[in-house]
Amino acid sequence: MTQKIRIAIDGPAASGKSTTARLLAQKLGYLYIDTGAMYRAATLSVLRAGIDVHDEQAVVDHVRNIKISLKIVDGIQRTFLNDEDVSDQIRTPQINQIISVISSYPGVREVLIEQQRELAKEGGVVMDGRDIGTVVLPDAELKVFLVASIKERARRRQLDLERQGIKMDLKAIEQEIKQRDKLDSSRAQSPLKKADDARELDTTNLTIKEQVEIIYRWALEKIEKGAAK
Ligand code: CDP
Ligand code: CDP
Repeated sequence: MTQKIRIAIDGPAASGKSTTARLLAQKLGYLYIDTGAMYRAATLSVLRAGIDVHDEQAVVDHVRNIKISLKIVDGIQRTFLNDEDVSDQIRTPQINQIISVISSYPGVREVLIEQQRELAKEGGVVMDGRDIGTVVLPDAELKVFLVASIKERARRRQLDLERQGIKMDLKAIEQEIKQRDKLDSSRAQSPLKKADDARELDTTNLTIKEQVEIIYRWALEKIEKGAAK
């Protein structure tokens, strides 16, 4: 029987993680888990509850009591917060501004990492985030770290926002991304960091199809190696 491996895809904001992870999962018939969406849903819930984001204890207590789930609706993965579809509400500049504060709290990470490991326990998953290869799934059979230039990442995010009807200046997006990368990389718990055994891929000059194809080949190598054991 072919082995179902676990694939971890990490990298900075807008490097192409979720697009690649989703398409790769489709190609392999695996489950795709967008951990960024989970942190985003937790952040939305904290904001809606009117909690002071700097009150760590209150934030952690709140996140312990919410239900976040990822479900496929009409072939597309959607994010649910207490059974409400919040997939669109979680991708706004307002969430981007404070998410790194919320996700730096160890108590918040503990809750979400436990759920992420539970979702991956059967194997056959592609999970994307910041700490998947280092902390969430340190034994993942394939670890990928995506990077791209800041200019290209800002351009991609601007197009994403435009598609949502949000106009934002390129320089402001660049600043927001830089600030978030800095906070994500410098936090004490689970910082954004390439795992020692991760393969790095620069997507700056690649098309989506090309980057998916490269990682798909890496995955097949791992699967074949596992089957040959
Ligand atoms: O799509 P983008 O790369 O902009 O962000 P995302 O993957 O949706 O993640 C949003 C934020 O959630 C990140 O900036 C991190 O602060 C946090 N995050 C995290 O701390 N750990 C993860 N495994 C995934 C996301
Ligand atoms: O998840 P992460 O924030 O790392 O990036 P993403 O949301 O997958 O990608 C950001 C945007 O860049 C999406 O609209 C992708 O379609 C686009 N993109 C890409 O991922 N790779 C390319 N080579 C070109 C564009």
